[in-house]
Amino acid sequence: MKSYYEHMNLPQPVLPSLQHLALLKGQTALVTGANSGIGRAIALALGRAGANVVVNYVAKPEDAEAVAAELRAAGVGAITLMADVSDETQVQAMFAAAVKKFGTVDILASNAGLERNAPFHEMSVAQWDQVMNVNLRGAFLCAREAVREYLRRGVRPEVSVSAGKIIFTSSVHEIIPWAGHVNYAASKGGLMLLMKSLAQEVAEKRIRVNSIGPGAIRTPINTAAWGTPEAYAELMKLVPYKRIGEVDEIGRAAVWLASDFSDYVIGTTLFIDGGMTLYPGFETGG
Ligand SMILES: NC(=O)c1ccc[n+]([C@@H]2O[C@H](COP(=O)([O-])OP(=O)(O)OC[C@H]3O[C@@H](n4cnc5c(N)ncnc54)[C@H](O)[C@@H]3O)[C@@H](O)[C@H]2O)c1
Repeated sequence: MKSYYEHMNLPQPVLPSLQHLALLKGQTALVTGANSGIGRAIALALGRAGANVVVNYVAKPEDAEAVAAELRAAGVGAITLMADVSDETQVQAMFAAAVKKFGTVDILASNAGLERNAPFHEMSVAQWDQVMNVNLRGAFLCAREAVREYLRRGVRPEVSVSAGKIIFTSSVHEIIPWAGHVNYAASKGGLMLLMKSLAQEVAEKRIRVNSIGPGAIRTPINTAAWGTPEAYAELMKLVPYKRIGEVDEIGRAAVWLASDFSDYVIGTTLFIDGGMTLYPGFETGG
């Protein structure tokens, strides 16, 4: 008996392995804070999906070089570029160098971020400013350069149906208040409306802007929350799925958000959090 496809004279759909999909082939991604944790995983995942990658770092150039070497070994182009994302001149120089090397930038993963925690009454202006400068001003400066490049270039239909993608690494703390981390939560709450307002503004130019909102992911930024069995058990009270997240889980989501498979996804935060945003205190009925 003929299959449906043979009967209809249609090609049989074959599900290729992710590696062979090369979803992002011919595109260039710039990832900030790409020499550590989530940024490193996003850079490697975008590269494995076929994109050339600009590995941004502000410290530890050897770690950035190691990421770039791994990407080159995977068969894509990769360079490292030093820039403090909170510095306008350095961000502009980084984008100029990226465009010079690869011709354009198609994907920005604005990921660099930090915490400077303190009880509110003891929080210094320096702690407040540093978190705002990296997490919010840095996102603004990088996104602005990306949008300028996307508007200049327009759509290249041979690589993507959109003119460019921006993916911010936000946090569950864009919606969950966080005592003792008021500067951090304020920066991510601000990032949420930066993302949504920008998404609304540039959608008609075929620029897609979204965020990933990680929950508890195993990286250096939060070692204190998972580094001991006691801390881990405490953390699990906040995670319905009862395990910590791994950076590759964020990388895979970034590939999807950067690809045309998510072309109708605009102005959304994709939470990857094992259910942390589901009010885990109500797990047992409240
Ligand atoms: N790990 C988690 O559980 C978690 C949860 C929610 C959100 N996040 C967010 O994920 C992002 C990445 O954090 P991570 O967990 O991988 O931590 P990380 O400390 O491993 O990585 C942070 C990266 O940002 C870089 N960076 C800091 N200041 C910079 C600057 N001025 N210019 C350029 N780069 C700078 C660091 O050098 C590092 O590469 C951050 O935005 C963080 O807020 C992390």
